[in-house]
Amino acid sequence: MSRSTLVRSRSEAVLSLVGNTPLVPLHFEAERLTIYAKCEIFNPSGSIKDRFAKCVLVDAEQRGALRPDSIIVECSSGNTGIALSMIGATLGYPVRILMSASASEERRQLIRQLGAELVLFDSGGKYQTGIEMSRAMAANDARIFLPRQFENSINAADHEHCTGQEILRQMPGPIDAFVTGFGTGGTLAGCGRAIKRRWPAARIIAMEPAEQALLAGECPCCHFIEGVADGFIPPLLRDAPLDGEVKITSAEAMAMTRRLHREFGLLVGTSSGANVSAALRLAQDLGPRATVVTLLCDRAERYFSTALFAAPEN
Ligand SMILES: Cc1ncc(COP(=O)(O)O)c(C=O)c1O
Repeated sequence: MSRSTLVRSRSEAVLSLVGNTPLVPLHFEAERLTIYAKCEIFNPSGSIKDRFAKCVLVDAEQRGALRPDSIIVECSSGNTGIALSMIGATLGYPVRILMSASASEERRQLIRQLGAELVLFDSGGKYQTGIEMSRAMAANDARIFLPRQFENSINAADHEHCTGQEILRQMPGPIDAFVTGFGTGGTLAGCGRAIKRRWPAARIIAMEPAEQALLAGECPCCHFIEGVADGFIPPLLRDAPLDGEVKITSAEAMAMTRRLHREFGLLVGTSSGANVSAALRLAQDLGPRATVVTLLCDRAERYFSTALFAAPEN
């Protein structure tokens, strides 16, 4: 068996685990409402970003953009870095992740554990610094492959053709609203397009941290909903069929995340709590018969060293 055949059959194990995640109803007794949550926590590295990592690297291999000496370099606050490190490991490529020094310790450990190189930069948490660093590295080294999650249209296209289609199969009736936060905007744009095409009356809504509601035209300041709203409106969101936004405070997001832990036994991260809060608010506005869909984006283990686990009641 050739090396490439061996690597291919080895990588099938992890690649086959990405996507096709379950979608479950969450019954909120106190509110007498049900919302529907797609459990992206079931992806092999524990977040929705496994989808982008798989599609961008498999596509690059097929196009010949990845060669045996290629190095994958990406700026990421965590989940994409972990996902690219995982898929890179199984496909046999070295991975270098550029990460803000403010990202949580457990994210750094997972990236290193997967054998990737971690380059920390201090930028007050701003992504642009890391993106510029990755471009400068690529300009000086022809072996570097940049997945470019913020600009790469394959990001939203994969959500349109995979995640969005899964939701449509799993929710056979009409969908009244779909809501999720945005980092790159790939999930919101891609799933939004798929759902809007099938159900034109569906409302496609962005969850925004109330402290940094850029789409609502409000000025940026810090929030604690990791993984979303990095202080700019990402280019992929331009093609999202958005109908509005719901603002959720960091405190609301954390309170709902703890409810998901303690009432539902769902160990998810803060942005999942924010998404579910936004979905509940929409369900309250649209009425008890409305079908509102959202996503549980990543797992709680990624947040042990953050405010989510540091709260007094923990
Ligand atoms: C932790 C986390 N990762 C990723 C995403 C989706 O990101 P993107 O907009 O890059 O598709 C979200 C969205 O809510 C998120 O909360």
